[in-house]
Amino acid sequence: MCGIVGYIGTKKASPILINGLIRLEYRGYDSAGISTIEKEELSIMKDKGRVKNLYHLKGIDDLTGTIGIAHTRWATHGKPSKENSHPHMDNSKTFSVVHNGIIENYNELRNFLTDNGYIFYSQTDTEVIPNLVHYYYEKDEKTDNLRFLRAVKNACSDLKGSFAIEIICKDYPDNMIVTRKDSPLVIGKGENENYISSDIPAILSFTRNFYLLNDFELVVLSRNNVVFYDKDLNPIEKDTKTIEWNASSAEKDGYEDFMLKEIYEQPTAIRETIGAKFNEETKCEFDELNFTKEYLSSLNKIYIVACGTAMYAGLAGKNAIEKLCKIPTEVDVASEFRYRDPLVDDKTLCIFISQSGETADTIAALKLCKEKGAKTLAISNVIGSSITREADYSIYTHAGPEIAVASTKAYTSQVILITILSIYFAEILDIECEKVSLLKRDILQLPKKIEETLKLSEVIEEFSKKVYQEKDIFFLGRGIDEAVAKEASLKLKEISYIHSESYPAGELKHGPIALIENDITVISIMTDNTLVEKTISNIQEVITRGAKTLVITNQNVDEDMFDRIIKIPETNPFVSPILSIIPLQLFSYYISKEKGLDVDKPRNLAKSVTVE
Ligand code: AGP
Ligand code: GLU
Repeated sequence: MCGIVGYIGTKKASPILINGLIRLEYRGYDSAGISTIEKEELSIMKDKGRVKNLYHLKGIDDLTGTIGIAHTRWATHGKPSKENSHPHMDNSKTFSVVHNGIIENYNELRNFLTDNGYIFYSQTDTEVIPNLVHYYYEKDEKTDNLRFLRAVKNACSDLKGSFAIEIICKDYPDNMIVTRKDSPLVIGKGENENYISSDIPAILSFTRNFYLLNDFELVVLSRNNVVFYDKDLNPIEKDTKTIEWNASSAEKDGYEDFMLKEIYEQPTAIRETIGAKFNEETKCEFDELNFTKEYLSSLNKIYIVACGTAMYAGLAGKNAIEKLCKIPTEVDVASEFRYRDPLVDDKTLCIFISQSGETADTIAALKLCKEKGAKTLAISNVIGSSITREADYSIYTHAGPEIAVASTKAYTSQVILITILSIYFAEILDIECEKVSLLKRDILQLPKKIEETLKLSEVIEEFSKKVYQEKDIFFLGRGIDEAVAKEASLKLKEISYIHSESYPAGELKHGPIALIENDITVISIMTDNTLVEKTISNIQEVITRGAKTLVITNQNVDEDMFDRIIKIPETNPFVSPILSIIPLQLFSYYISKEKGLDVDKPRNLAKSVTVE
């Protein structure tokens, strides 16, 4: 969590830093701050709350420094407050630091530093870093131009946990040092200037050329140079990567919110993700993969591991892989999977889904599977993200940057990509049944059907206005529709703060039906024609107990039975989540708007969860 930005160049740093923070604010918004070097002294401006609060700080317009670091916080240690805001300085005011992550041994380090006379002014884990750097800086007897770097290296060797760190030093006004372990950080290369950011879109308007950083590498940035070192301070060479996303994809483009824009970008995201992987006549190809029939036939199991929405996309993957390829597939939440000694060996293929590619639990689960000898495959939206650098294979959704905290286009792109992956597996396994060719045809028709589904927006807005004050909402479904119910319920909780539950429709009678009372809203998803009759019976059970019902369906059902029906286009059951989730994304969106909430930045959440 948290966003960090850095700039070193010839322009005034503060506006660039604040602009970068605004773009990264989706990563955390408990506080914001910047530090620049002003006439050989460090300056810090910071405050609790949103980045825009920085504009009101006295003196912020007078900053002229051309080197600076910045942070927008998602608090882990110490409540959101001004003193806990980053940047943090050491006691002598020689170093300024911003940090993303958690220093797990901060207590031990804090005690050590306190014993050595250091005083702490915040409750954060971060504040040990500048003081530790200062401790090693003072101990260093050589005063050459690597003294700053050595101090950072020595301090980082003592840190346990996760970190992306930017440090500036008043004695080295022409250098900035950055390093990382398990937290994201990219370096943007410009002309006589260089940038740092937690993600690529935040600085896309300045450069398309990026260096990616591995764990424990240290980087010294100057205006004209970027020098990389390994953890023992041996210099290393790196090439830049050119990113194809254009800057406007990270802008709102006239939409009120990123979430709405991203919902409407789904036809393009799906089209781009399908790309040229197949057409109706050709077999499915992934340039990045080289699986063989022998390997796939040897598998005893596939695991799909992810968090939140990405995990729900995994449920669609399980459905397709098991039904098309007949390989047993389990889906698990990464934070549970990694601690339950999963039965994984060299006969297991482990697939990890992560939009950001930076989710700490998912990365840790991947590392565990590698240790156990399994092959690992990452599905991510971000080229070069940590997860793709760890995995044996990586394939990409092409959804473009997703900025809103609530995932929409990334989810549908993940569903399509993992479905295409299952076709790829089926074709390698020579399972050329009609099901596969029909699915390919239906996938190619999807972008048009998404466009059609988006036209339901007005009807959904109107329905949302009727129910936005509800306290509880239930989502029901069977089979693949239950996976969509889960995702719809998460979306509603995240951005509308309405308590909601999702249940397999047939499970309701085993307990949760006790919660159904007069006028409660129950939303059911029904796209599987083999299960419609069963689901209708379950809806009947809640109607009998006074529930108001909304049904999302592509089936012909008795419209008089329900309070409201939303008809979506028919499609192949394997990809039906891509259409059925859209009205429910819009539903959560309009409820959140009606309640006057911040749709893109819901409370307590952050886009990338880079801590455990
Ligand atoms: C989605 O709306 C959520 N904000 C969240 O569940 C998210 O999908 C999850 O944190 C996983 O993120 P990732 O895909 O970047 O790994
Ligand atoms: N652990 C640090 C803090 O609570 C950094 C959190 C973050 O990544 O925003 O201040």
